Amino acid sequence: MNHVLERLTDARAALGEDLLILAHHYQRDEVVDQADYVGDSLELARKAADSKASHIVFCGVNFMAETAAVLAGPGQSVYLPRQDAGCYLSDQAESTSVRSAWEALGQAMDVEREILPVAYVNTSAEVKEFVGRHGGLCCTSSSAADILRFALDERPRALFLPDQHLGQNTARALDMGEEEIALWDPRYPAADLEQFKKARLILWRGSCNVHVRFLPQDVHRVRREHPDVRVLVHPECRPEVARLADEVGSTSLLVRRVQEAPEGSTLAIGTEQRLVNRLSQTHPTKNVFSLSDPAPFCATMSLTKLPDLERTVSALAHGEEIAPVFVRLKTAGSARRAVQRLLDFTA
Ligand code: 13P
Ligand code: SF4
Repeated sequence: MNHVLERLTDARAALGEDLLILAHHYQRDEVVDQADYVGDSLELARKAADSKASHIVFCGVNFMAETAAVLAGPGQSVYLPRQDAGCYLSDQAESTSVRSAWEALGQAMDVEREILPVAYVNTSAEVKEFVGRHGGLCCTSSSAADILRFALDERPRALFLPDQHLGQNTARALDMGEEEIALWDPRYPAADLEQFKKARLILWRGSCNVHVRFLPQDVHRVRREHPDVRVLVHPECRPEVARLADEVGSTSLLVRRVQEAPEGSTLAIGTEQRLVNRLSQTHPTKNVFSLSDPAPFCATMSLTKLPDLERTVSALAHGEEIAPVFVRLKTAGSARRAVQRLLDFTA
């Protein structure tokens, strides 16, 4: 065993039940191998919420660790081994621009009655707080359709943020027409407000820099090269890619589809590279590969390496002071409400 692994093993043994290590599917293999639980963002949020461990080490990106911190009980702390692990998508909806958008829309309509804000979990705790305070809730990619349907039953319009592609793909799943959708571009907040009065769904103009890399020509190419291929893509992919795919689904659905596929199947997957590689390695009797070549990977998910995890766990075992993920008390209350509504909705 190498020294890093030895120190990590000793530190884990010392902490026992007091420690829970969570890892998202996009993490490096060396980190995934050490996790108590590996899952998508919703599954990990649930694990964190159900855990009794006083130290939760979250190997993922900051919005995921913040969500766990918002749900944490008294005496529990959440640690992100790499504090610089952000998310390009969540960074595109800064809470100040979300508040300005709400104010601007307020000039055109009574926003509190007419718009329900829905935040994808890939948002900061401040944005979740904003959404919770205005009666809205969070969603994940697996629950977006159910939650958007619910939002549109509650109020005439929904503001969906920050992923326009997830929003468009979800609207298509709900059979909404293009004319019912308007795009809010935070770079041009003074846009013509009339268009938003006509819309049922207001989409924030944001996207994931990993999933936008899949293009329609990738789908055409894999179909040409593998006539029996099934193309499965994450809903953060562009709608023009999602339309050409055989199925669009959340991380957990993509994992399940590969597990369920008969031996000998050919599957092209449109999502993060590390997950696709792992699925390919763990299913050697199936031909599983990335929809695009080269396969896009999430740079911030890749930041966490085994020594980062080891340093965090060893520091906890030795009682050294390390900074937990911090969410201000005044933010945590409404943010928790927005996330708890998601957990209740998907229970
Ligand atoms: P999941 O919610 O499916 O885990 O996805 C999170 C994410 O960051 C996708 O890019
Ligand atoms: Fe964020 Fe995209 Fe990375 Fe997911 S893959 S964590 S949405 S940047």
